[in-house]
Amino acid sequence: MPKITIENLTKKFGNFTAVNNLNIVIEDRGFVTLLGPSGCGKTTVLRMIAGLTDPTSGRITIGDTVVFDSERNINVPPDKRDVGFIFQNYALWPHMTVYKNISFGLENLKWKKEDIDNRVKELLDLMQISELGGRYPSELSGGQQQRVAIARTLAPHPKILFMDEPLSNLDAKLRLEMRTELKRLHAETDATFIYVTHDQLEAMTLATKICLMNAGEVVQYDSPLYTYAHPVTVFSADFIGNPTINFLKSELIIDGNEYKILIGDKPFAFKPVKTPRKPLSARNIVIGIRPEHIKIGTKGLKGKVYSSLPSGMETILLLKFGKEILTSVVFGIIDFEYNSEVNFTIGSDNIIIFDAETEKNIMEGTIVF
Ligand SMILES: Nc1ncnc2c1ncn2[C@@H]1O[C@H](COP(=O)(O)OP(=O)(O)OP(=O)(O)O)[C@@H](O)[C@H]1O
Ligand SMILES: [Mg+2]
Repeated sequence: MPKITIENLTKKFGNFTAVNNLNIVIEDRGFVTLLGPSGCGKTTVLRMIAGLTDPTSGRITIGDTVVFDSERNINVPPDKRDVGFIFQNYALWPHMTVYKNISFGLENLKWKKEDIDNRVKELLDLMQISELGGRYPSELSGGQQQRVAIARTLAPHPKILFMDEPLSNLDAKLRLEMRTELKRLHAETDATFIYVTHDQLEAMTLATKICLMNAGEVVQYDSPLYTYAHPVTVFSADFIGNPTINFLKSELIIDGNEYKILIGDKPFAFKPVKTPRKPLSARNIVIGIRPEHIKIGTKGLKGKVYSSLPSGMETILLLKFGKEILTSVVFGIIDFEYNSEVNFTIGSDNIIIFDAETEKNIMEGTIVF
């Protein structure tokens, strides 16, 4: 089973660089999501790995086979790369039954009738649509059609499955259901999944690794939970997590061996989890605080309730704090009165300090209250 190695991959359209010098390794049986804002180059990367778009330069290796190398003039066509695709518009053949939609490709590959029959039944079971084999696409719901499209793509046992926003045509409930199915499917097949989305929640919940991109470059390539806790830049912190992370502009003060940070003009001691590799100098910073780390209580800083959004399991509380609005998540059934004063602390060892100029993560740690 293949590991995919991508080296110095670049795609230019005329003078415009859509993908700039991409270097990543996708582990065998990984579920990698390409995540990032519209136009950042996700689809282009996917199409280059699949063989549908020719890179300008770089090398792509699938398993032991170099499938593209600009220097050696190697370019293996998509149908020889052992890959399958599922796109946003998963056109099924309308005049064919579900069974036939799935079996058709295998017939073209000259599979034996009995093997085809077994494989189609296996897939219908796997996708939990075994009672739908005789129906036509027009007789199926959107989610059922999507399952058939996935079954059809999986039928010839592709080693790599490419998906470009496959759930974006479905309503919210179906999306959630299909997300669960895709994750289960990934666990039950041997295939490596490469999945494009601009939905951070989809990327978080499905992936073994997120390849977060911006303007044609990789910003961070880590597991979802690692990226959430240890974003390398302000962009990464901001793109991942919902509600989004709070950013407070501040200053880092060096006091002997100690770090201090200003919050609402008051200095607080900051204890880093790891000592930064290089000693840090005083500078302007941005403090990154996840909403769940703003703890409402009886002491600490004071804020005013700007808005309270209870949803049962949790309440999203927006607090006016000086000129800033901070978002807090309070768990349980609770509501807050508009404009009332509340106390809060910032309680976590996962507070992130970014350099205000470079926007890079310079340390993580605890604010001492
Ligand atoms: N054939 C093309 N010719 C010229 N420019 C292109 C071509 N294909 C893509 N681009 C440009 O390359 C950039 C990356 O496009 P791409 O489709 O990879 O973005 P994306 O991240 O998939 O965006 P979205 O989330 O909107 O689908 C965009 O600025 C796009 O306009
Ligand atoms: Mg795209």
